Amino acid sequence: MTKLNEKNVFLQNKYNVTAFFYDILDYPWERQYRKWRPALVGDLRGKVLEAGVGTGRNLEYYHQDVELLGIELNEYMLRKAERRKARARCNVKLINEDATVMSSIPSSQFDWIFSTFMCCVMPDEIQTLAIEQFSRVLKPGGRFRLLEMVYSENEKIRKKQKAFAPFVEKVYGARFDRNTLQHLERSTTLTVSSTSFLKDDTYLLIEGIRN
Ligand SMILES: C[S@@+](CC[C@H](N)C(=O)[O-])C[C@H]1O[C@@H](n2cnc3c(N)ncnc32)[C@H](O)[C@@H]1O
Repeated sequence: MTKLNEKNVFLQNKYNVTAFFYDILDYPWERQYRKWRPALVGDLRGKVLEAGVGTGRNLEYYHQDVELLGIELNEYMLRKAERRKARARCNVKLINEDATVMSSIPSSQFDWIFSTFMCCVMPDEIQTLAIEQFSRVLKPGGRFRLLEMVYSENEKIRKKQKAFAPFVEKVYGARFDRNTLQHLERSTTLTVSSTSFLKDDTYLLIEGIRN
């Protein structure tokens, strides 16, 4: 790791343990996510940075014309992603890097920033740092696509989410009440172009462009 934001030490330590069980624990949700992943990355082209690559669940779905840099905070998650790299059709480089720092990554390099479920594990107070980095490393006109979990407005669904919330936070560091969309909307260099939900009003897809 080149440089780590001290606010992420806690999360990194959590994933030192979670990494060993991640794919097993996540299996019930992954059965749903794997139906979404091909469409989420399938139309991306050019130089793509995937932030919080995790165990590499998206790697096999990238188009062969993509040149992919995957960054990941936790070295054990990264090792698992390395094993999945063989399934990818495109050129993949994976590095241990903090999305709020990105000190090893030059500016204005990428056509796309892509991420699934990273911002919902990222403490709100450092999300603007990651957003600044997204903006810095994207080319002008470059685009971003982020998938995050949020609380539903539907009382029944929200109740279920609340019941799961302590587990989700304990194991993944994830929360349903992160304000990623609001942070992005306040950015002066990134513009949110669309938001949509993949399921109910809980899986929020945020897309946008570097001004
Ligand atoms: C819930 S997992 C999602 C993994 C993967 N994107 C997926 O869809 O299966 C969140 C991942 O983001 C990583 N992460 C969290 N904060 C990060 C940061 N600041 N920089 C890079 N990776 C980060 C975590 O280590 C973890 O692997």
